[in-house]
Parts: sequence; structure tokens; C-alpha cells
Amino acid sequence: MCVTGGAGFIGGHLVDALVSMGAMVTVIDDLSNSSAINIASTIDQAPDQVRLIQASILDPEAMASAVEGAQTVFHLAALGSVPMSIDDPARYWVVNATGTMRVLQACAAAGVERVVYSASSSAYGNNPDLPKLESMAPEPESPYAAAKYGGESLLRTWAACYGLDSISLRYFNIFGTRQAADSAYAAVIPAFVKKYINGQSPTIFGDGEQTRDFTHVSNAVLANLLGCVAKEPLRGQVVNIGAGVRTSVNELASMIATNLGVEGIEPSYEPERVGEVRHSVSSVELAKSVIGYEPTTTIEVGLAETVKWYAGQFGQGP
Ligand SMILES: NC(=O)c1ccc[n+]([C@@H]2O[C@H](COP(=O)([O-])OP(=O)(O)OC[C@H]3O[C@@H](n4cnc5c(N)ncnc54)[C@H](O)[C@@H]3O)[C@@H](O)[C@H]2O)c1
Repeated sequence: MCVTGGAGFIGGHLVDALVSMGAMVTVIDDLSNSSAINIASTIDQAPDQVRLIQASILDPEAMASAVEGAQTVFHLAALGSVPMSIDDPARYWVVNATGTMRVLQACAAAGVERVVYSASSSAYGNNPDLPKLESMAPEPESPYAAAKYGGESLLRTWAACYGLDSISLRYFNIFGTRQAADSAYAAVIPAFVKKYINGQSPTIFGDGEQTRDFTHVSNAVLANLLGCVAKEPLRGQVVNIGAGVRTSVNELASMIATNLGVEGIEPSYEPERVGEVRHSVSSVELAKSVIGYEPTTTIEVGLAETVKWYAGQFGQGP
């Protein structure tokens, strides 16, 4: 097995799951948005099962070495910030679209059987129809979304032209332990926990009534494993991976405050960010019929675990 971006948030959880099942895993990650520390404990526990190649997916030699002998390649390496992609669209296209093509080229050359790609629900853009169905026309509204959607097209193309089987998993707001909390573009849950713990107001962009399908990382890991073991050819199909539940950012802030036992701190509101979608919730019916996916961890259970973990990280138990 090979996991691109395996030192990252979702990739790290996937590597842990694969290792616990006895798989041999090669991780290729340039550590541009992660640290070897994320994966160090996994390597310590299973040094014979995990190999880390610190290199970019854009490096053909490193990619060839990473996928050599792999049956399945889980492709998660990407740059992940919508606002940063608006500042630097070319870089996002190179890493997220061209980088995906490089991964596919290396996989086709090495005889890999299947690529499981981490795609993004940002492909739906601001289409107001809910829930999001894979049959809807994509409307990417940021360079990040366009490049991630470009990756899906490349997977389909490599299945059609080069016989490389694959599936695209369109994730909806994945959250869980070990998600980076300290960048300016941090994911909303760790950012909110950090603020509350420090006795500060969490910042909400817009009125907070925008909704998201917050999906615990264990569901994303499950989807990757199901994508790997599916018996029938998948031919680059696209499926939604979410929890199928709509939660507003205001509700989320309140759930986090409750989990932390914080009272009397109201969020502060700033102008809405360019390129961000208003509402988002998945239908997971197609994922159920194609790979047997059903979310197993609810937002309530996942949030309780996640908030507790961050509270520990930030030096305070709930
Ligand atoms: N987190 C979410 O909610 C979410 C939602 C939709 C899609 N996704 C997708 O899931 C995947 C994983 O996201 P994540 O949240 O774990 O992000 P992450 O930033 O924690 O992980 C991405 C990893 O890719 C690595 N990377 C970046 N550029 C690279 C390059 N050129 N070569 C090698 N490695 C490189 C980073 O160092 C990082 O370790 C990404 O493809 C992302 O687009 C995530």
C-alpha cells in the first residue's frame, strides 16, 4: 500500500488503520503541511511496516519508488486551504491537479490496481440544491475546488485510457484528532476549541448560519478501506463521503462550548470569506450502493472525542 500525504491529518489516521490491519505502508509526504512527528509514533510501533519517503508527489523518481509493488495507492497529498488557493492559484493547480496526474502516471507505470483519491465536496460550489448528489453539475468556486475537481477528471481519464482503476471520495468537512490548529486557515473545530480554552471568542466568518456536513475522520478512513477492497471495477466513479447531517457553524460553536463546559463566551463575527459555500450536506446513498459505505461515527460522538483531545493538547481538560 502507498499513502500520499500520509503524514497529514486524514492520511495519518488512514496509515494507523492500515498498520493495525497488518499492511505494509509506504508514505510519501513532503511534510509541507505536516511534521514527521505525526507519523513517528506509528513508525516506532511498527518500524517494519511503515516507510516514510519525504518527497513531493511532483518528483517522478520519488513517486516511482513510493508506489513500487503497491496494489492500492491512497492519494491524499494536496494543499488544503481555500483562501490560500485564491492568493496562489498556480501553486494549487500544480500540486493538486498536476500532482494528481503525476501520481496516476507513476501508478499506471508500476501496475497499481487501484487509486483511492481524496476528492472534495467543494466541487459542488454554491449550487443551492440539498442534499448534494453526485449527479449535480460541478460548480467549483475557488482554485482549490477547481484543482481537486480536476483530479477527479484525471482519475476517470486514467481509468478509460490506461486501465487504472480508481474511485474519488468527495469528503464533506472531515474533523478529528490531530487536525492542524495553529495556521491562519485552521480548520474550524480546533480553531474554536483553542479560542474557548483561552477564554476568547471564536471567530465566525459570515452570520454563522452557513451549514456543513461535519464528518468524523473515522468515516473517511472507513470509506478509503471500502474503496480499496471493493470487488467490482470502480472506473473513477465519484461518491460522496459525509455524515449526511447538516449543522450550522453557530450550532457547532455552541456544541463545542458545551463539551468544554464554557459559558458566557459568544462568538465574534467577521465578513464572509470569498469563495466559501453557503450550505453543504451530503447524500451518501451512492457511496452505500457502490462501496457499502455508511457513516458509523456521529458528529456528537466524534466531537466529544475531538474536543477532549484538543483540550488536552492545549493544556486543559474539559
Ligand atoms: N480535511 C477535510 O475536511 C477535507 C475535505 C475535503 C477533501 N480533503 C482532502 O483530503 C486530503 C487530506 O486532507 P487533510 O485534511 O488530511 O490535509 P493535510 O494538509 O493534513 O494533509 C495533506 C498532506 O499532504 C502533504 N503534501 C502537500 N503537498 C504535497 C506534495 N507536493 N507532495 C507530497 N505531500 C504533500 C502535506 O504535507 C500533508 O501532510 C487532501 O487531498 C484534501 O484535499 C480534506
